[in-house]
Amino acid sequence: MALGWRIGIVGVGVIGGSIARRLRFSGFASYVLGVGRNEERLKAARDKGIIDTYSLDYDSLDELDIVVLATPLDHIIANLPVVLESVRPGAIVLDVGSVKRPVVDRYEQIRLKYPDRFFVPSHPVAGSHLSGFENSRKDMFLGRIAVVCPIDNPEDIISQVKLMYNFLGMDVIFMSADEHDKILAYTSHLPHIISFAFRDVVSEDYLKVSGGAFRDISRISNADIRLWNGIFRHNKDMLTASGRVFLKSFQEKLMTIEEGKAIGISYLPQQELDGVYSVAIDGPAGAGKSTIAKLLAMRLNFRLIDTGAMYRAATLACMRKGIALDNVDAVIDCVRSSSIELTEQVPPRAVLNGEDVSEEIRLPEVTNNVFYLAREPKIREHLVELQRDMALSGRAVIEGRDVTTVVLPEARFKFYLDASFEARFLRRFKELRDKGLEVDEQELRQDMIQRDANDLKRNVGPLRKAPDAFYVDSTNLSVEQALNVIFYEIKRRCANEEINI
Ligand code: DC
Repeated sequence: MALGWRIGIVGVGVIGGSIARRLRFSGFASYVLGVGRNEERLKAARDKGIIDTYSLDYDSLDELDIVVLATPLDHIIANLPVVLESVRPGAIVLDVGSVKRPVVDRYEQIRLKYPDRFFVPSHPVAGSHLSGFENSRKDMFLGRIAVVCPIDNPEDIISQVKLMYNFLGMDVIFMSADEHDKILAYTSHLPHIISFAFRDVVSEDYLKVSGGAFRDISRISNADIRLWNGIFRHNKDMLTASGRVFLKSFQEKLMTIEEGKAIGISYLPQQELDGVYSVAIDGPAGAGKSTIAKLLAMRLNFRLIDTGAMYRAATLACMRKGIALDNVDAVIDCVRSSSIELTEQVPPRAVLNGEDVSEEIRLPEVTNNVFYLAREPKIREHLVELQRDMALSGRAVIEGRDVTTVVLPEARFKFYLDASFEARFLRRFKELRDKGLEVDEQELRQDMIQRDANDLKRNVGPLRKAPDAFYVDSTNLSVEQALNVIFYEIKRRCANEEINI
């Protein structure tokens, strides 16, 4: 990808602000312009560093690559024409509204006027019951789903939108606007109505004797009721249909109870895996995973599983045999017939067919070839199995790109170690310079953003935050500080759960 997109955010609230934050933090955006009506608010968002600059005027959208409409639905529908009018030919406009059909209908009415602008309806399924940019968070979207509803958009436009969502840390699902609205009626809009309705039936007097059940069912009714009324109005048909289905089930359950019988549920919540007392650390390249994992393993007296070293050793095995690395079958055969081990010392030695290859696997020619193997599902499956066996046979700190999501999702202690693109770039730049290497700044930036893009967008084992991973941003932390954040979080959890590790 080219470095640094120029992004416009129309509506710098909790969602727009969170998008702006993540896109700048991750290096996807080189510049973010906020557009809105309230100058005070926009100024405050700029002063907080959420956007680079602001404008009250849609004309300023004409120099941007991607414009995100993050305002309430009525406003998206009303202003879609003026936004499409204002952006330059070739620009991408996407909305992030919670209902898609009315937005698509509006676009269908006006699309012929803007044949050279690309509009992509979408919905990042994440949010907060709080509003305003003060409540925006750069980790809001990590590990969540974004729905994209293409309207015969060219393929390269769709892949750019997908890449943007990947940089927000999201998986992308494609579906029609109607399918989206139907599913969301059940999974989001109906639960909100139930929560709002629940408030009405429990008198305020009773709240003094309420616990977790009331808190959980009423939490989402703290959301902005005006915003939700807009959503309900725009998804009226799907929503009332889902409501009737709900009422039927509710009635039946009440009748069953009245008859003195036991009620059932149609499917059980997902079973939690039995946790294992290992620590799994995930995150982007250059956030400090390997350094911190090593120090943590030493402090906890756990073994260290450096999963990257195994991908490297597998690559070396194939290179030594002179196998063409794009010959998938030959590569799989070679890796399956090789013995790849990590010793138990910290840091571990990498052993390939009985030979210590710890130094050789760090050579640039190996580093440059790992991606051939890392992208192959069968190779990943094989190495994941070896990694799981090691991690399950004792306590370990396990580190690598997919360890919290794929290799060891049942680890009791999961961390997503993050840092801004700029911080990761500066660390890498300094590291190379300290080694006495000539570094071209632009080239290094380009390489790193490309690597991030590859890690985030790949189909197998992409970099994602596990929902229950503890988020640590090391941008402004020293190694020692980041290590302490992780170490004391483990200690805190152990103390609370009376775990002895
Ligand atoms: O962390 P490292 O640089 O040693 O990793 C080497 C390569 O292996 C890197 O390109 C990412 C890949 N890798 C992977 O695909 N999955 C892992 N769990 C660990 C590393």
